[in-house]
Amino acid sequence: MLNILSTSLGGLDLLASAVLILDIQGRIAYANAAAETMLESSFKVLHKQRLQDLFVNGDKLATIFGQAMLRQFDEKREDLVLERIGRSPLHLNMVLSVIDDPDNPVLIELRENVQQVKLDREERILDQTQANKELIRNLAHEIKNPLGGIRGAAQLLELELPGQGLKDLREYTQVIIKESDRLQTLVDRLLAPHRRPQIVGDVNIHEVFERVRSLILAEFPNGLKIVRDYDLSLPEFRGDKEQLIQAVLNIAHNAAQALAPRMVNGDAELTLRTRIARSITIAKVRYRLALDLHIVDNGPGIPAELKDRIFYPLVSGREGGSGLGLTLAQTFIQQHSGVIECESRPGLTDFRILIALP
Ligand SMILES: Nc1ncnc2c1ncn2[C@@H]1O[C@H](COP(=O)(O)OP(=O)(O)OP(=O)(O)O)[C@@H](O)[C@H]1O
Ligand SMILES: [Mg+2]
Repeated sequence: MLNILSTSLGGLDLLASAVLILDIQGRIAYANAAAETMLESSFKVLHKQRLQDLFVNGDKLATIFGQAMLRQFDEKREDLVLERIGRSPLHLNMVLSVIDDPDNPVLIELRENVQQVKLDREERILDQTQANKELIRNLAHEIKNPLGGIRGAAQLLELELPGQGLKDLREYTQVIIKESDRLQTLVDRLLAPHRRPQIVGDVNIHEVFERVRSLILAEFPNGLKIVRDYDLSLPEFRGDKEQLIQAVLNIAHNAAQALAPRMVNGDAELTLRTRIARSITIAKVRYRLALDLHIVDNGPGIPAELKDRIFYPLVSGREGGSGLGLTLAQTFIQQHSGVIECESRPGLTDFRILIALP
C-alpha cells in the first residue's frame, strides 16, 4: 500500500495548479505552493483543517468527498464556485481523484476558471452601466434646467451694472457665466448618447479607424507612431458611424494622452488592430461572429486604483479630465451589441472592442 506523504512531493510546488491531498476525514494532509497561494494561507495554517470548512458553501465539497470515500468514482471533474468570508469567491475547475493510500485517499487538483471570472466581471459591468445610465440621465436633466436660468440671470445682472467703477462686480458675473458654460458642456456630454437616435447605415470599420487615426495625428503630430494592423477581409456591418468614431476616438485619445511622456522620447506607439472573433459571448448572448478591435498603447498603464472603475462616469486619473470618455464609449458600443474590455499593465494597455456581427 502506498503512503503518499512519504514520497517526495516537492516537485508539485513547481506546478501552476493547486494540489491538495486529504485524509479520510477530509482534512488537508498536503498542499503545494500553488494551493497555498490560491487559498491565501500557508500549509502550516491549512494542515489538518477540513477543506470544506474553508468555504461558506463547503457542503458541496463535502458531498463530493463523501462520494469519493464510498468509491462511487475514481475521478470526478467539476466546475465550482467556492465562497469565502470577506474575500471574492473562487471560480475553479476541480479534478478529484481517489488514490491508493488508505490514510490519505483523496487528491484534488484546482485550477482557476478564468473564463467564468471574466463572464462574471462582464455581467457586473453591464449591470453597472445600466444603472449608471439612468442616474446620469436624470441628474443631467436636473442640472440642465436651472443652469440656463442661472446663466441668463447673470447676463441680465451684468447688463444692469453701471459701466465704470464696478469692474469687480463684472468679474463675479463673468465667473458665474463661465462656470455655467463649463457645466453646460459637461451636461451636454452626459446627455449625448440620449440626445439623438442612432443613425444606422453600412459601416466599414477601417474607415472608422482611419478617421480616428487622422484626428489623433492632427492633435499629436510629434513623436507618436500609429501602427495599423488591419484584417481587410472584415465585412461591412450595420451601425452608427459617428457613434463608432466617437467611441474609438475616446479610447485612442486616452491612449495618446497617456503616451505624452513617451512622445518626448519618440518611442510612443499606438496600435490599431482589427480582427474577426468566433464564438463570442457578449452580454450573456452567444454570437457566432464578432468584430474584434484593439486599441493598444505602450504607455504607463491604467493606475491600479482606477482599474476597476474606468468605465464609471466621472472617474478620471487626469488633471482636468471629466471622466466621461470611456463611459460614453461603452454606451455607444453597447448600442451596437458590443462591449469594451480592457487589460492593462505598465507598457501595454489593450482596449478591446467586440461588436457582434449578424
Ligand atoms: N490608455 C490608457 N492608459 C492609461 N490610463 C488610461 C488609459 N485610458 C484611460 N485611462 C485612465 O482612465 C481614466 C478615465 O478615462 P476617461 O476617458 O473615461 O476620462 P478622462 O480621459 O479622464 O476624461 P474625458 O475623456 O472625459 O476628457 C483616465 O483619466 C485615465 O486615468
Ligand atoms: Mg478620456
